[in-house]
Order: sequence, then C-alpha cells, then structure tokens
Amino acid sequence: MARTALVTGGSRGIGAAISKALKAEGYNVAATYAGNDEAAASFTAETGIATYKWNVANYEESAAGIAKVEAEIGPIDVVVANAGITRDAPFHKMTPEQWHQVIDTNLTGVFNTVHPIWPGMRERKFGRIIVISSINGQKGQFAQVNYAATKAGDLGIVKSLAQEGARAGITANAICPGYIGTDMVMAVPEKVRDSIIAQIPTGRLGEPEEIARCVAFLASDDSGFINGSTISANGAQFFV
Ligand code: CAA
Repeated sequence: MARTALVTGGSRGIGAAISKALKAEGYNVAATYAGNDEAAASFTAETGIATYKWNVANYEESAAGIAKVEAEIGPIDVVVANAGITRDAPFHKMTPEQWHQVIDTNLTGVFNTVHPIWPGMRERKFGRIIVISSINGQKGQFAQVNYAATKAGDLGIVKSLAQEGARAGITANAICPGYIGTDMVMAVPEKVRDSIIAQIPTGRLGEPEEIARCVAFLASDDSGFINGSTISANGAQFFV
C-alpha cells in the first residue's frame, strides 16, 4: 500500500519540488500552505497533490490539520518539516516581533508538526522525519540571528528524535540546503545575492529538485540506518 507523506510549506519553492518528487515515488502526498490560496489551488490543479491550509506556528491548528489529512488520506508515514520564513535584519535592528515570528514558524513549527504525528509512527513502528534546516544554521549568517537560531535548533531536534525513535523504526534527519533559487533567496537584494553566488564554488544557486532528491532518499526504506544525520547540499560553500 502506498505510504502517506506530509510536506509543510509544500506548495511553493523547495517544498513544491519535494511534494512532486514524493508523488513521483508513489507516495500519497499532502502539502500544507499558510496563506496563498491562489498558489495552492494552481499547485493542486497542476500536480493533483492535495493542499491543506494551516499555520504551523499554531499547535491546535496543526493537530487539527494533521487529523484531517490522516482521516482523508491515511496515517502519515513520512513528514517533511519544510515550512519556513525569513525576517532578516542586522541584530541591532532586529525587533522582538521579527525574532518571535521566525522562532514560532521555523522552530516551534517543527514541534507542532511532528508532535501530533509521533504517537502514530511509534504505534505502527515506522516513520521518516525529515527537517529542512539550512547552511545558515551551520555557519550563521549576517542579519539572520533569528533564522540561524531556528535552523541550528532543527539539528538538535533531529539528533534527539533519532535517539528516541530508533527502536520504533523511526528515523529523523536534517537536510541543510545552501542557497537555492527560490523566492526566498531571490528576495535578497541583488547585489548581496551576487556576492553570495560568488562564494559558492559550484558557481550557481542550487535547484529545488536537488533538495527534493535528498528527501526522497531519506524517506525510502533504503535509508533505515541513516538516523540523526545532516545532509549538506550547498555546492561546496561550507563544510561542517
Ligand atoms: N556581511 C557583512 N556585512 C554585510 C553583509 C554581510 N553578509 N550584508 C550586509 N552587510 C553590511 C552592508 O554592507 C552594510 O554596511 P554599511 O552600512 O557599511 O554599508 C550593512 O551591513 C547593512 O546595513 P543596513 O543598515 O543598510 O542594513 P539593512 O537594515 O538595510 O538590512 C539586509 C539589509 C537585510 C541585511 C540585507 O542586506 C539582506 O537581506 N542581506 C542578506 C541576508 C541573507 O543572506 N539572508 C539569507 C536569505 S536566503 C535564506 O535564508 C535561505 C537559506 O536558508 C540559505
């Protein structure tokens, strides 16, 4: 029977590529989105992938949304915690609001997404948890104290979940994409973006599909012994 995968932020950017790749691998896929109804509707029309709207920063909304997905599609076997935002500002200008928005969505959002799914994975003795972190959680980034903190936090989450889930057939891993050609990176001022690309030895931005292929591998049965690890996909920009 086909497995079910949930991808948060799964209708745009890296998330959309992940949703499509998992569908191509034969999963029943549910993609969540936070606000852009139009983008989600055209994504569903184009791909046939069901979309669900909720705010990952809200635990009750997440739990209710996950219950709906499980009732309509099936118990979630693979969860890809991908939803994330940036509110970049140099630290001396960063507001508490910018701090909390990013923490609530990118870090608490991972808790809110995985926690309601976890008991079912433990019962069924199978699960794949894949968290989309970032190169900037590994190396830090000017103007991203908030974002880098969340992405470093993701690595702590997967290393801890890996230890708790291992005996129950659950793996938890992180992917740290470098700079990928998505709306998020295209929103960086052009001059800054050009200077970033100049620091990538591969000489280009990554493609969302390059991250999606990492996810498909980590989701598969073949990756059962890979647990608590971090895959860096950054064009040789940074080594841990
Ligand atoms: N390193 C060192 N200095 C930098 C810098 C950097 N990476 N980026 C900017 N600066 C400097 C500027 O040169 C400028 O210096 P001067 O004042 O001496 O000219 C100063 O910092 C900028 O100060 P401002 O007060 O003008 O800054 P601002 O309030 O207008 O903010 C910014 C500008 C938000 C920092 C903008 O430059 C920016 O967006 N930078 C990109 C940050 C970034 O890389 N974000 C990653 C987004 S992609 C992502 O997050 C996906 C992923 O996972 C990889």
